[in-house]
Amino acid sequence: MTEYTVEFVGTGETIEVADTDTILSRCLDEGVAQEYSCRVGMCLACTAEIVEGEVTQPAARGLTDEEKETYALTCMARPKSDLKLDRGKYPPSIEDDAAVEAGTDEEAPADD
Ligand code: FES
Repeated sequence: MTEYTVEFVGTGETIEVADTDTILSRCLDEGVAQEYSCRVGMCLACTAEIVEGEVTQPAARGLTDEEKETYALTCMARPKSDLKLDRGKYPPSIEDDAAVEAGTDEEAPADD
């Protein structure tokens, strides 16, 4: 077992996470306010952008293979190196869906 340091950018929070643990489980143990819901890799509530480092997350079904390069589902992701994560950052596909649901993706009406 190897332990890695996981730093959450902009918060000053740092935790140690073993390569056998998920990042979310250690957040919950350490009182880090990581959002989550399903805990089975489907809802994306626990997503964080990978600013630096690598994770393994083969069961992160809610992300495409391409998205897994840049985003971690913390309920599924285990560290493969020291990490810097930006919590609350979601893949563009999710951000687009949220904007559509909120009605904020429409262009401003023309003035004429
Ligand atoms: S809590 Fe739902 S995907 Fe992680």
